[in-house]
Amino acid sequence: MSRTYAVTGSASGIGQATAALLRRRGHRVIGVDVRSGDVVADLSTPHGREEAVEGVLDEAGGRLDGVVANAGLALPTAATVAVNHFGTVALLEGLRPALVCSRAPRAVATSSMATLLPVHAPLVDACLAGDEDLALAIAVELEARGPEAGAVLYPSSKRALSRWVRREAPTPRWAGCGIPLNAVAPGIVRTPMVADLIATEQGRDALAGVVPMPLHGYLEAEQVAALLAWLVSEENTHVCGQTVYVDGGCDVVLRGDDVWSWNDSAPVAVTDPAARETVPAG
Ligand SMILES: NC(=O)c1ccc[n+]([C@@H]2O[C@H](COP(=O)([O-])OP(=O)(O)OC[C@H]3O[C@@H](n4cnc5c(N)ncnc54)[C@H](O)[C@@H]3O)[C@@H](O)[C@H]2O)c1
Repeated sequence: MSRTYAVTGSASGIGQATAALLRRRGHRVIGVDVRSGDVVADLSTPHGREEAVEGVLDEAGGRLDGVVANAGLALPTAATVAVNHFGTVALLEGLRPALVCSRAPRAVATSSMATLLPVHAPLVDACLAGDEDLALAIAVELEARGPEAGAVLYPSSKRALSRWVRREAPTPRWAGCGIPLNAVAPGIVRTPMVADLIATEQGRDALAGVVPMPLHGYLEAEQVAALLAWLVSEENTHVCGQTVYVDGGCDVVLRGDDVWSWNDSAPVAVTDPAARETVPAG
């Protein structure tokens, strides 16, 4: 059955490939991008985010089946935090009421394997507190120190985004409304975002040390699009709050199996009544 999706960052790379795949499958896609699209809006500013949400709601007639919040920047600048974290969160929150009207609503954000790289903790905290003024003040200071300090902005923005998804997904706003909310975390994807970086042997060597991808190497945008499309499809009924690494093994190489150590010492009991309630799958 044909569904209606909003896809941000639809003018290039992963967003373009996702929009194309969903359209080929017979769905309606409302593309959002600062460059060109059905809705042209700048997700780095509060005003631009409002324009994006209003534009999508107008085009969709107030009801959406899925949102792919994918637009992003990878520059050592404060704008990267504004777009990757605050732009993504504002879009998802702004479009959530339209998702609630769907029989089988789904939402996904594009995070990154960069979630696994060193971050600036106060910046991540400010993002998670929803304090954009503080986050951008920290980011501007880091940016001013030069590209090396600014390099922490991208991982910080993506770590904050994945943590936001994980915190929000099981709440009454998302799971409680029957909306699976998740993220994908790609390794290196051959898109304009990294074209310069992977064009030289020196760049590829430098990346290999930080982003090991033993399975199949670099991704094509279409391979990430396939996962995004599944996460917003009706088939995805129970994946909740996950950051799904689609990274050729980067996560498992970098983190090994220490992700299981969180409850080694104490049994876990769920005390939040909202987290005990269930919503039938749609
Ligand atoms: N390419 C990679 O290796 C890689 C790896 C991990 C994660 N990602 C993430 O994937 C997502 C898509 O990146 P991509 O590789 O397709 O890059 P891309 O540069 O090809 O596409 C990004 C799109 O986002 C749009 N965009 C940027 N700033 C915007 C703004 N302020 N408002 C609205 N739209 C804006 C751009 O115009 C562009 O069309 C990003 O969130 C990126 O961080 C990419």
